[in-house]
Amino acid sequence: METDFLVIGSGIAGLTYALKIANQFPDKQVTIITKANADETNTKYAQGGVAGVTDFEKDSFEKHIQDTLISGDGLCNEEIVEIVVKEGVDRIQEIIDWGARFDKDPDGDFSLGREGGHSEFRILHHKDITGWEIERALLAAIAKQKNIELVKHCFVIDLITQHHLGYLVTKSTPDIDCYGVYVLNLQTNRIEKILSKITLLATGGNGQIYRTTTNPYIATGDGVAMVYRAKGRIENMEFIQFHPTALYLPGIRGQAFLITEAVRGDGGILRNKNGEAFMEKYDERKDLAPRDIVARAIDSEMKKNGTEHEYLDCRHMDKDKFIHHFPNIYEKCLSIGIDVTKDMIPIAPAAHYSCGGIKTNEWGRTSIRHLYASGECASTGLHGANRLASNSLLEAMVFSHRSFLDSVREIENIEFQTTIPDWNASSTGDPKEMILITQSLKELQLLMSDYVGIVRTNTRLERAMHRLDLLHEETEVLYRNTKISPQLCELRNMITAAYLVVKSASFRKESRGLHYNTDYPYKSALVQNIAL
Ligand code: FAD
Ligand code: SIN
Repeated sequence: METDFLVIGSGIAGLTYALKIANQFPDKQVTIITKANADETNTKYAQGGVAGVTDFEKDSFEKHIQDTLISGDGLCNEEIVEIVVKEGVDRIQEIIDWGARFDKDPDGDFSLGREGGHSEFRILHHKDITGWEIERALLAAIAKQKNIELVKHCFVIDLITQHHLGYLVTKSTPDIDCYGVYVLNLQTNRIEKILSKITLLATGGNGQIYRTTTNPYIATGDGVAMVYRAKGRIENMEFIQFHPTALYLPGIRGQAFLITEAVRGDGGILRNKNGEAFMEKYDERKDLAPRDIVARAIDSEMKKNGTEHEYLDCRHMDKDKFIHHFPNIYEKCLSIGIDVTKDMIPIAPAAHYSCGGIKTNEWGRTSIRHLYASGECASTGLHGANRLASNSLLEAMVFSHRSFLDSVREIENIEFQTTIPDWNASSTGDPKEMILITQSLKELQLLMSDYVGIVRTNTRLERAMHRLDLLHEETEVLYRNTKISPQLCELRNMITAAYLVVKSASFRKESRGLHYNTDYPYKSALVQNIAL
């Protein structure tokens, strides 16, 4: 199969790019591939909303820029922050034009929420299901576009580069080209090659490398792992953001339900098991301090009190207002016997967002030619050491737009590479023991949660690396000898993503933002990104 534009991922980053390209080139083919159902994305689960300056009387670009820089703890690229904050406003208008609905006040202005690290109310939202609404609107717009084909249940295994033409490709090869991808078509169970002139990676995050995460099962770091295997540049992987308030359920593993930070923006208070509002001990911004600080404070209270969770107290909040803004959270809590107007909500931090990823420039270009990356899989320089809440949907829209502009400039100069061999599937037997894959996955998630969580030490990182080495070795043997399955590919990708997190964390000899190592508790004067 040949397609001019190949988009991998059907979240906000992939869909907004595809819509723009399809509009610009009505006679060219755009193909979107996704490994699951079209809407099974991190995007769909976004709750709080999209940060953007819309109330210019109280708010300003400068304030949003400053909040982003403070949260990023010295590592943001200031030029990129300015681009995202300023251009984001037009991108928000575009998704509104595509049909996304944001809540408004009775007087017709946007009803704005507030989250940790924001000095103003500036989060546009649709109740507490903003991502669901955005995904719905974008998929509806895609369905109307005749030159977009959306292929579901198609797993991208690897990028095709000169390596597949028999050339030696290393990190120092100057011009690595992307010619398309190999995919496992889950409808036919066959491995196919898709040739493309331009490819956009919009594969999302990697929360699933941890035991508990707010991310759905698709978030396995595939894009980052593919680029790393293709010898492209990856950076800042150590900055894994833990959301402070995932709903705690005993024995929980896998995807945890999120209690949006906007609840604290509307007055929710964190309390420990003794009922103490503990955040004032940790930061003067209390419950609305940036996420790294709040998650560490909860972690510290849990360790001190020997508890598996702390509480979010909403009992004092206006019931009608709560139900109006957070109907989904209200219902979810009720369904497990928690009436938020009478009971405190048990919460614990959970892996939530990968701030680092595939290194891109201001036009979304990766270090591999004709390959762009946007959304959570990319490292644009916006988030630095800690993403400001609700900046990621904004970032995805801005960089998908910029990748679109750059693709328009590039496309006429690119030819298909037609000499790519078919996938070599010789000497692969049937997978006999699925348990080997599921067991390794459990081990991986446990070791990442135990040793590479909110608080790290050199010893824990060393332990994590030893165990990862073994998992890597065993999984590569399976990969060579077994027929390829999505589960095996995901395990392999997650091990790579985890390796990159641990490696970057080991290189960072300081504590900054989301990376806290008790062996180096202070910030270093040397401000640097860790590139792998
Ligand atoms: P995603 O939306 O995750 O899409 C990834 C796509 O890639 C999927 O379609 C997936 O199937 C596909 N894919 C991955 N690997 C492969 C492969 N190998 N082959 C084929 N397809 C593949 N951010 C905010 O700004 N505001 C919020 O309020 C907010 N709330 C959040 C709440 C939750 C619970 C979560 C989990 C995240 C939240 N975030 C929020 C973060 C934000 O939702 C994500 O960062 C963003 O949606 C990522 O969009 P994306 O397009 O990059 O990736
Ligand atoms: C939330 O709603 O608390 C999540 C917002 C985000 O991750 O940006």
